[in-house]
Amino acid sequence: MKNKILLICTMILFSFTSCSNENEGMNNGLKIPMANAAADVTNTSFRAKWNYVSLSKTYLLDVSLSPDFATFVPNYNSKVVTDLNEVVTGLDGGTKYYYRVRAQNESQISVYSNVITVITTGSSVIPEDPTFLKVKANKLANPFFVGVAIKANQLTSGSAYDVVLKNEFSSISAEYEMKMDPISTASGVYNWSAADKIVKYGNDNGINVHGHALVWHNAVPAWLKNFKGTDAEFALEVKKYITDVVTRYAGKVKSWDVVNEAVADNGTMRSTVFLTRMGPDYVKDCFKWAREAANAAGDKDLLLFYNDYATSDNLPKQNQVYVIVDALKAASLIDGVGFQMHNTYLSPTKAQIETDINKAVAKGLKIHISELDMAMNPKGDITTFTNERNLLQKAKYKEIVKIYNALPKANKYALTVWGFKDNESWIPFNSVDLNRPWNDWPLLFDANFKIKSAHTGFLEGLD
Ligand code: XIL
Repeated sequence: MKNKILLICTMILFSFTSCSNENEGMNNGLKIPMANAAADVTNTSFRAKWNYVSLSKTYLLDVSLSPDFATFVPNYNSKVVTDLNEVVTGLDGGTKYYYRVRAQNESQISVYSNVITVITTGSSVIPEDPTFLKVKANKLANPFFVGVAIKANQLTSGSAYDVVLKNEFSSISAEYEMKMDPISTASGVYNWSAADKIVKYGNDNGINVHGHALVWHNAVPAWLKNFKGTDAEFALEVKKYITDVVTRYAGKVKSWDVVNEAVADNGTMRSTVFLTRMGPDYVKDCFKWAREAANAAGDKDLLLFYNDYATSDNLPKQNQVYVIVDALKAASLIDGVGFQMHNTYLSPTKAQIETDINKAVAKGLKIHISELDMAMNPKGDITTFTNERNLLQKAKYKEIVKIYNALPKANKYALTVWGFKDNESWIPFNSVDLNRPWNDWPLLFDANFKIKSAHTGFLEGLD
């Protein structure tokens, strides 16, 4: 009896062991192949490899963009291979792929092998074309970022904006969506959606993100404009806003325009709700709060800019800007000056721009040409973009890029163009801010996204 029980136990044990062996390596007698690390990886291909399985005649190779093989790279869904490796082709650069194999003979197919991950090198999507602005700027002895103002809805993958942006530009500024008005909907209440999208796009694609702008009189939300509390409470609201925004994007946004356009065209401090309620030290306070927030968040490298327009051909305004800049510099609160450069083909002159910018250079500050565009119809005297104006624009773009490129290495940061296409620029038909209710052609790309001579002028400025 005892012997009989022992025999039954041994039989049960044996059947368990053989079952588990089959699960590990066989399916209907065909062993499972072992996939090996890929070889010969390029930006469009790799060689998938695996071990020999006895009795197999062929192997079935799967390649996918997802580890669960929910979909397959075209032509690699059970692709029949007779060898022990296969060069997988037609892939995208800098992309993660997964592969696995099964062994097969006339009547049997094994279960799947282990899954191998492989990342293709570089990127074949974005060729290093020397006629792309950032490609040429990156190759300079003292390179700098070539920036563009963008809107969140332009960042759809594969759109013309997305492609041109990634090809040509190495920095982005939000044209509107990172200002106080769209972000701050009520005291301590924020709408981060567009700003988050913009910052993530920059971070994901290795594109520098410049923050524009924490405090600007033209983008004050109604709740703050009409704030009923005391002046001290008003200042606390501004502090809270600056702190929350800088903290959220610490380490993700490289630089901020802390205060934008604090000086009026007559060279006095601009009369804004900030000046009225916080007094003349408000600019300094804002910089201090931005710096404190960055430091508290562990970002010691955040660059703080003062940003303003039309300083080069307006000396009283220029002087007042430098009064502000000097005070900030004395308090070690400022890293750079943003010169918007919403220029026209007539002004400012080369000498005026150089004199203006060189003052900031002499103070050891970084220079951001932050909103460059070139109005070609400031007086409304043309109705189509004439060839003559086209060539003047080319020359003017070349001139300013040359000025910027000649700056010492330590003073360079970025040269940012204010938008992509002429027809979407803020200048044409602008009767509100500019009192120019007619058409204009201020940017580097036309309405069809074709490069203009201005773009060639930009490239020539980098020679
Ligand atoms: C402008 C944008 O281009 C517009 O789309 C928006 O409606 C208003 O703001 N100086 C600045 C920029 O600092 O923020 C302004 O941008 C243009 C003038």
